[in-house]
Amino acid sequence: MKRIAVMVSGGGTNLQAVMDAVEKGEIRDAEIVLVISGKNDAYALRRAEKRGVPTFIAGKTEWPDPVRREEAIVKALKQAKTDLVVLAGYMDILPPSVVHAYAGRIINIHPSLIPKFCGLGFYGKRVHQAAIDAGETESGATVHFVDEGVDTGPIILQRKTPVLPDDTADTLAARVLKIEHQILVEAIRKVLENI
Ligand code: GAR
Repeated sequence: MKRIAVMVSGGGTNLQAVMDAVEKGEIRDAEIVLVISGKNDAYALRRAEKRGVPTFIAGKTEWPDPVRREEAIVKALKQAKTDLVVLAGYMDILPPSVVHAYAGRIINIHPSLIPKFCGLGFYGKRVHQAAIDAGETESGATVHFVDEGVDTGPIILQRKTPVLPDDTADTLAARVLKIEHQILVEAIRKVLENI
């Protein structure tokens, strides 16, 4: 069994998609062993608890010292014997020590067609507003490996969806989110084959 840790900060619909896929056997021979949240009030934590998945809170409130926080994240991942780390709406930048400890075994979902609308400052609704403001006719989602940069690692999967003339950041986010749920599950399957 491959052991997956998921890192979150928000609502956790991507986490839910991954948990559902594991439960239905769409991701085979794998289990979710840990959910790490960057925020202590993330709804994603409730989703994990409902499934009985252990949680760890790595927020800046709980861990004001960045070095301690970093060490705590690595320790939690190691204790859970993690094989693959999935960033699913995790809103902090992963420190280099974590990236090195799990080189080639950390993936991230981003709600745009990377290299468009990614990097520092591009997260959540801001990404969709930027796509609309730029007059894009299509957007989408990307799953990529995490390296030391922000949204710069090799792309694993990408899928497009149209931007409609009357889209708001909210309506576009909802359409992209559906794609995210699909490609995140597909990417995990693909990556686990090589771990
Ligand atoms: C998702 O759209 C994800 O791609 C985005 O946050 C949302 C989390 O939703 N991540 C980023 O913007 C990271 N740069 P969720 O909590 O419902 O999965």
